Amino acid sequence: MSGAGRNHARKVGPMTSTSTDSAQKAPAKDPWDLPDVSGLVVGVLGGTGPQGKGLAYRLARAGQKVIIGSRAAERAQAAADELGHGVEGADNAETARRSDIVIVAVPWDGHGKTLESLREELAGKLVVDCVNPLGFDKKGAYALKPEEGSAAEQAAALLPDSRVTAAFHHLSAVLLQDPEIEEIDTDVMVLGEERADVEIVQALAGRIPGMRGIFSGRLRNAHQVESLVANLISVNRRYKAHAGLRLTDL
Ligand SMILES: NC(=O)c1ccc[n+]([C@@H]2O[C@H](COP(=O)([O-])OP(=O)(O)OC[C@H]3O[C@@H](n4cnc5c(N)ncnc54)[C@H](OP(=O)(O)O)[C@@H]3O)[C@@H](O)[C@H]2O)c1
Repeated sequence: MSGAGRNHARKVGPMTSTSTDSAQKAPAKDPWDLPDVSGLVVGVLGGTGPQGKGLAYRLARAGQKVIIGSRAAERAQAAADELGHGVEGADNAETARRSDIVIVAVPWDGHGKTLESLREELAGKLVVDCVNPLGFDKKGAYALKPEEGSAAEQAAALLPDSRVTAAFHHLSAVLLQDPEIEEIDTDVMVLGEERADVEIVQALAGRIPGMRGIFSGRLRNAHQVESLVANLISVNRRYKAHAGLRLTDL
């Protein structure tokens, strides 16, 4: 179990519940009751940037097999060599082909074109979109409104043969990449249509010390999760911080 060693006692209902109560109420879901994903290969498209490289580093450091993708294989190789921990580098197409889970960490500008060009390589793969469509002006960051609703829904529309999920939107690339930091203290909101796919991504997040993956709804609700980063950027600017998120009472 990916949550081994953490407090993952399953919550149970009150002992006094009546038979009617127990028939109506499903037991509370334990956020650590997740599949073992330690044997899966994770590819990162755009893995030469701060977010992709940071995620690649954290996952590889936790023992996951990771391939960094780039538009240029040599840039990917250079980034992989820098990270160590068995990370490999390849162009985006080969990365997608060789991976079980593919994290999309390219800028919003290149999102649609990149995914469209990799439709075949990404068929059947579990795709994890972490792209935040944002604009910046003198007042700071603000959320853009993609035609499809969100970056994740654009991915789902462009990749009908892939299993598209969305996660890892609210991480600080600075913290991810800092080797002095042992734990990344944050929850990861995971969205998707299929419960099994969402749980795989939750488990992947849980491989990184300090992180916990939480099911946070279907892709039609990805827009506000992607957009929340504009607020986090405001928080970080005001308080000179790298703020993360915690969901309470779970
Ligand atoms: N930075 C953060 O803290 C953070 C946190 C959460 C989520 N995100 C999201 O993660 C994504 C990546 O963020 P980042 O800061 O790492 O971005 P970035 O550095 O601007 O881009 C990442 C990589 O994408 C590739 N790329 C650049 N332009 C591209 C294009 N037009 N088409 C295809 N690939 C392109 C580049 O790699 P090659 O030139 O090697 O191909 C680049 O190194 C963004 O969508 C962002 O919203 C970022």
